[in-house]
Amino acid sequence: MNGFRRKKAFVVTIDGPAGSGKSTVAKRAALETGLRYLDTGKLYRAIALYLSRQSIPPVESENLKGILSRLSLKLEDDVVLVCGQDVTNEIHTPAIDSIVSLYAALPSVRERLLDLQRMQAEAPGLVADGRDMGSVVFPDADLKIYLTADSRERARRRYLEQSAKGDEISMEKALSIVLSRDETDSRRTIAPLVIPEGAVVLDTTGVPPEEVTDEVVRLMKETYRRKSEEDLADVR
Ligand code: C5P
Repeated sequence: MNGFRRKKAFVVTIDGPAGSGKSTVAKRAALETGLRYLDTGKLYRAIALYLSRQSIPPVESENLKGILSRLSLKLEDDVVLVCGQDVTNEIHTPAIDSIVSLYAALPSVRERLLDLQRMQAEAPGLVADGRDMGSVVFPDADLKIYLTADSRERARRRYLEQSAKGDEISMEKALSIVLSRDETDSRRTIAPLVIPEGAVVLDTTGVPPEEVTDEVVRLMKETYRRKSEEDLADVR
């Protein structure tokens, strides 16, 4: 922004279930405010792709920990690199949708990604989307948002996205993948999908992404102003 000038990074977290509009809204809000955008789902997807291609099952083990500690994983703007290879265009498929939550539930996978995610919070700031951004990765975030929407609408969004890319998937299949990811993401023991304490909850059912983005940007500006005044008051 165009105004977001604190030395300390201004961190905004956007959590929510699959298809709630997180990525679209987080990306637009970051662009409008000049902050960096972090799509953490991309990292979990890249790991799921890599491990499944190596025929490593989603089961916790010492062997898995070793593999993950040696794995080279990099984020360069919108691009995710695994062992130096750009996999960005291979991770948003129905096949990865079906398995990613199983890998994301493993403690060693989550541990592997923790520092990498936190390192992205540099000044002027970051808009990060995921499932545990406000609860685990950035518990002291300046602003926490939780997006949700009716499950049929979320499935319809995923169905339209996949169809636009030419991936054959029925509406029923899209719904069943969304529901099964909701279940796995919400029930896992480590960093489950929850509404983080202090989060603003926005229901995006029937609301166009532009409107949700406007509301998020409004909340960001309001929070930024308030925090800057608090910082000044501390100095005085
Ligand atoms: O957001 P996206 O749909 O790309 O996320 C893919 C999957 O990655 C989620 O269903 C979830 O299992 C996992 N994930 C997670 N924690 C995050 C981001 C994504 O567990 N912060």
